Amino acid sequence: MALPIVVLASGTGSNLAAVGRAIEAGRCDAEIRAVLSDRPSAGALSWARERSIPATVVRPADFATRADWDQALALAIGQHAPQLLVLAGFMRLVGEPVLRGCPHRILNVHPALLPLFPGRAGPAEALAAGVRVSGCTVHVVDRGVDSGPILAQAAVPVLPDDDVERLHRRIQRAEHRLLPAVIDAIARGAISLGPEPRIDAIWFAPDGMLASPAIVPD
Ligand code: GRF
Repeated sequence: MALPIVVLASGTGSNLAAVGRAIEAGRCDAEIRAVLSDRPSAGALSWARERSIPATVVRPADFATRADWDQALALAIGQHAPQLLVLAGFMRLVGEPVLRGCPHRILNVHPALLPLFPGRAGPAEALAAGVRVSGCTVHVVDRGVDSGPILAQAAVPVLPDDDVERLHRRIQRAEHRLLPAVIDAIARGAISLGPEPRIDAIWFAPDGMLASPAIVPD
């Protein structure tokens, strides 16, 4: 059975769309049960609605306290009984009720090679630091900011005439391949999630992209 997932997204949803394409192409053994957002205008919601995938807004402004919003979000997620929760450009920290609802089973995709450059400005900080290689990280979400166990990373070059947007676009192209691959690895049992995630040494061979864990060629 395909792995039931719920996706949280605040933005355009290009990572969500990449997961959708990978599922359609048979490269990702998952089923998107629902898309939830904190922003009514999120492109991710329209993407879901166009495909008749349940799409729900849980807006902080509609709740008296942050704790109420956390509860409502956890409830909305729980209704779809996901085995994996995927944060694909969700621009808020999830609270205790969400963490407790999906223990060790929440993924985030981050546009930098963690633990470098956590937070909202990964590509800008990489550029400002003058690194020559950056990339993306898929990690398990814990209570901190982009601090949970790293599952996989893919590297891209930082080119001399890059600006933040150009670098972020290149990183996102890597995200679009890495995130579905990691979800598929979880669905197939090549990555086992838990208090200490177990990653099979050999599970993932993105064409031409430097990524880890990776198949070592003969
Ligand atoms: C991605 O770059 C992701 O790494 C970051 O937010 C961005 C979301 O982009 N957390 P999109 O909405 O998937 O296009």
